Order: sequence, then structure tokens, then C-alpha cells
Amino acid sequence: MNRILSSSPKGRMVSTWKMSLEGLKKGSRLLQEGKPVHEAILCAVREVEDNENYVSVGYGGLPNREGQVELDAAYMDGDTLGCGAVMAVKDVKNPIETAYKLSLKNRSCILAGEGAERYAERNGAKRQNMLTENSRNRYLREKDQGAEKATARAYEGHDTVCVIGRQGTHLACGVSTSGLYMKEPGRVGDSPLIGSGFYADSQAGAAAATGAGEDIMKGCLSFAIVEKMREGMEVQKACELCLEQHVKRLEKRGYQDGGMSVIAMDPDGNAGAATTLEEFPFVVAGEDSCQVLIASRNRETGKQVLFSPDEEWLKNSRAD
Ligand code: GLY
Repeated sequence: MNRILSSSPKGRMVSTWKMSLEGLKKGSRLLQEGKPVHEAILCAVREVEDNENYVSVGYGGLPNREGQVELDAAYMDGDTLGCGAVMAVKDVKNPIETAYKLSLKNRSCILAGEGAERYAERNGAKRQNMLTENSRNRYLREKDQGAEKATARAYEGHDTVCVIGRQGTHLACGVSTSGLYMKEPGRVGDSPLIGSGFYADSQAGAAAATGAGEDIMKGCLSFAIVEKMREGMEVQKACELCLEQHVKRLEKRGYQDGGMSVIAMDPDGNAGAATTLEEFPFVVAGEDSCQVLIASRNRETGKQVLFSPDEEWLKNSRAD
């Protein structure tokens, strides 16, 4: 078994996909300056939401089958267990900020559709058409191939940005996605569902998931990982065991794995990751480093391997 990031009282972060590298560098810098964990997480997620080259999150996200970008985002505070989420929102810039604001409330903290959009606007969110010309052109080119084909490729190399942060003893996490490409309008994946796409409890650990939402939610994967850590299991083992058990559970029912990956952090700041993909890049940041690592599942043995990619690998990788 691999072990990444040894414990330290200083700020720690872990996030999904290579696309989160720049955001995590900025977020981690804030933690090292002593800023609260929510500032670091919002900063890291916003960076990905604002980058139109990342087509699975925020501005530039790929649209649903009617050509509209619908976004999901969530935030959870591990000290208070406060949790906020927005689902299927259109034309809202930085949905993670609204999710964070909702996490400070104790009622009406998970909002969907138009209600979520109106709340976002009332609370300072900028309204903006999130469909870029590139995403629109790809949609127009591919829509005649049928939604089934397009959704089957949706998780090739990128998906939800999930960021877990820890400052002192305080754990929290934030997630943001445009969800499945060519999804049914109104479809909601795992990302804004507490326990499935994310969970944080400063006393036990935090976890978040990326990949085929309909597969992830059948196992409440993030909550399952946190509960294993609560029982005393080491973070990397908890990621591997919960994912492996869940894949078996799905396979027994005849489901084909559509691709799932998880990241987690324990209360001491140790990070873990596991995947059903051949390559799942994730990013870890601590006091003086921020680096991309790769989780990989061996097809024959089912064993998880973590490794540090070289420049060449990163250049050639199709994964965001
Ligand atoms: N994991 C993102 C989604 O299924 O929407």
C-alpha cells in the first residue's frame, strides 16, 4: 500500500484531476498564510470553474442534450457538518460560492433549479451564460451521434473538481461539476449529494468522488470512506477498500463500472486516493509542495498503484 503526505499541523489539500493543479497551488498558499480552510477551497474550485478549457466544470462545461449547461456544486464544513448544495443551475458563475453560503444555513441549504438560481442572484452571484463557443460547437457536432454515445465518453480524462482542505484540525470540502455531457435536462449526479459526492467530518476525515454519478451514489461512497476512517482504518486503505467493495456490489447486480475515483484526507492531513481507471491524476499540496500524482488500477489484478508522473507522462496524458 502506498502512503502519501505524512501528518503535519500545517495546511493540507488534496484535489481531483490535473486541472486542479493551479487552483490548489493558490489555495494551499492561502492555507500556509493562515487563512481559513473555506477561503482556500473556494479559491481552488473557482480557479477551475473559471477556466473555459476544462469542459467538465463551470464556464465552458459541456451541455445537456438540449444544449444548456447545468451545474452542480456543494460545500461541507467538517467542524459544523454544515452542508450546502446547488443542483442543475443555469447561468450562475461560480456555483461553489453559493453552495458555500448555503452551508452556513441550517434549513433550505440544498436548492435546485430556478430556486437555486434566484437564491444565488440574491446573494451576490453573477449571472453569466456558461456555454462557450467551443462547447457549443462540440455539442452541435456530436448531438446527432446520440446521447448514449456521448455520455459513454463523458468520463474520459476529466470530471468533477473535488477539493478537500485542512487547516489545523478543521477539515472541509467543496465540489463543482457540469455533470454528465448530454445528460437529460434536470439530471443530478453524485456531486451535490451529501455522502455520495462528498463528506467531511473533522473528527473522522473527509472524502469526495468523481466519475459516473449514478454508480457512485449507489454506494454513498464518500460517506462510506469517512466511516471507515472513523473506525480507525488508514486513509489509503479506506479509499481502496470502499471502492473495491462497491465495484463488486455493482458487478453482482450486473452493472458495468462507468469509471469512479475517490480522494480522501484523515484528521492528521494524510491523503489517499483510489480509482477504477487506468489513470486518475490527483493533486496533493502541503507546506512546501504541490504535485500531481497518479492513481492507477491494474486491470488484471485489481491492485491500486500510486505514482509520481514525470514531465513526459504529464505532457502526453489525455487526462485533465
Ligand atoms: N460525477 C459527476 C456526475 O456524475 O455528474
